[in-house]
Amino acid sequence: MVNIGVLVSGSGTNLQSIIDAIEAGRCDASIKIVVSNKADAFALERAKKHGIATAVIRVKDFPEREAFDAEVLRILREHGVELVVLAGFMRIISKVLLDGYHMKIMNIHPSLLPSFPGLEVQKAALDYGVKFSGCTVHFVDNGLDSGPIIIQAVVPVKDEDTAESLSRRILIEEHRIYPQAIQLFSEGRIEIRGRRVFIRNSQPPASSLTNPLITI
Ligand code: GAR
Repeated sequence: MVNIGVLVSGSGTNLQSIIDAIEAGRCDASIKIVVSNKADAFALERAKKHGIATAVIRVKDFPEREAFDAEVLRILREHGVELVVLAGFMRIISKVLLDGYHMKIMNIHPSLLPSFPGLEVQKAALDYGVKFSGCTVHFVDNGLDSGPIIIQAVVPVKDEDTAESLSRRILIEEHRIYPQAIQLFSEGRIEIRGRRVFIRNSQPPASSLTNPLITI
């Protein structure tokens, strides 16, 4: 069992997938606090509906990044959080929080990192013309979407895809792999060696993928 704090900024579908996995017994974690930088984030409603404590930290009250993160850190510690889970939290994390939870902050990102870090990445993937996109759960370091990778899920790009349709299919995979990554952490199966993350007692998939499927 691991005590987690979830940081959100928006709709919170990833938060919901974690709540659902915990309630279904697929993820041995307890959400101690949900912290938002936006008072109107729908994620807060999701948390309250499940009796989970929430906190809003407004940027206008803590305009300096370090002061904001010190307040986040204070609240996480106050709630006994062991693992910090960024779920659509649209802020860069400073050294204050990184040092407070060294390699104990996870993020989910809707691309196959290190391709397409940053924002509007599904459109960027389509515009580039990649045949596969997907999502990545990684530990957070001091770069942009650059920390050690824990799990990736691959989503084939279709000719008729728009940024919205591709985002929807990637989101389905996000909802699957984020609770899994938390579960692996909870089971103590994650080992970080430099940039590489090893999952004890895990197997790679049996085969490779090609897109499009050519039968010649
Ligand atoms: C998700 O697609 C997540 O991967 C992305 O924001 C969305 C949040 O959705 N995060 C990032 O782009 C972080 N760089 P949600 O609020 O419904 O979970």
